[in-house]
Amino acid sequence: MSENRHKRAVFLTGAAGGIGEALVRELIESGYLVFAGVRRSRGALDALPHVVTVPVDVTDPDSVEDAAKEVSDHPAAAHGLHALINNAGVIVQGPLELVPPAELRRQFEVNTFGPTHVTRSFLPLVRSGGGRVVNVSAPTARTPLPMLAPISASKAALQALSDAQRLELAAWNIPVIVVEPGATETSIFASADAAAKAAAGSADPDLLALYAGHRAAFAEVMARQKNGPVDRVVRTIVAAVEARRPKRRYVAGSDARALGMLSRLPAGLRERLITSSFKLGKVSAGAA
Ligand SMILES: NC(=O)c1ccc[n+]([C@@H]2O[C@H](COP(=O)([O-])OP(=O)(O)OC[C@H]3O[C@@H](n4cnc5c(N)ncnc54)[C@H](OP(=O)(O)O)[C@@H]3O)[C@@H](O)[C@H]2O)c1
Repeated sequence: MSENRHKRAVFLTGAAGGIGEALVRELIESGYLVFAGVRRSRGALDALPHVVTVPVDVTDPDSVEDAAKEVSDHPAAAHGLHALINNAGVIVQGPLELVPPAELRRQFEVNTFGPTHVTRSFLPLVRSGGGRVVNVSAPTARTPLPMLAPISASKAALQALSDAQRLELAAWNIPVIVVEPGATETSIFASADAAAKAAAGSADPDLLALYAGHRAAFAEVMARQKNGPVDRVVRTIVAAVEARRPKRRYVAGSDARALGMLSRLPAGLRERLITSSFKLGKVSAGAA
């Protein structure tokens, strides 16, 4: 414990799997004491040195407030936080007309309102630690993609919140940093697919038939997608945590950089390129 008192402390959400879990391990290697926010502990983190697991559901402001209190009462956070990393996230996918309202709400609750609750509750610790806020976004924040409207919109909103709050927190020299990972090998896509299939199971069959071509085209896109290694994103987030003068945005992966470049093209050209890459030009509308 006394050793932990002298380490710089960070808090992150979504630490139980995917990018978050790998990030915990890399941050420990880099010498940090990690407060690892987990919705459901899977035990793997509990055995690691210099990790304190903290239960948190980012969609529940009371749970977030309890987590912030738990961290601030911990002796290892006596000097505040060097970084708060909003990493927890989900993908809600499918043609927007088919997305159930509760699923759309879940998308924003986790990806947009969640980081907002977490940042609000943890800012006193970030302020006292001379720390920074790192928000894990996605390239679809800048280049929204078809069949990915919910995730694109949730991350675009997160981007806008980050850009505005950066200006507010400049008064305390607290950087607000956005990280855009490209497609990465985690279970996020399998979870999104399972949720979309469950939603389709209770959808109006006529509406499903209308979008049969779109859904098949999207399935092809996902089958073609090449997911990069988790390490690539982890290294990028650690660079954002460590930089003396951090950039506003870090992009991990050539696919993410390509999507970022698309956002700067004229809208007509951008839409033609996306339509062609999704092969949506060949999709005929189902009979109405
Ligand atoms: N993988 C990619 O290709 C990719 C690309 C761009 C951006 N990103 C972003 O990177 C971040 C991490 O994603 P990932 O790929 O590592 O996904 P992942 O493996 O599915 O991990 C997501 C984490 O978020 C947690 N989470 C979900 N809902 C939560 C809630 N209500 N409260 C607290 N935690 C919650 C999950 O916990 P449970 O296990 O308990 O559900 C899980 O630990 C996300 O923000 C994602 O949008 C990922």
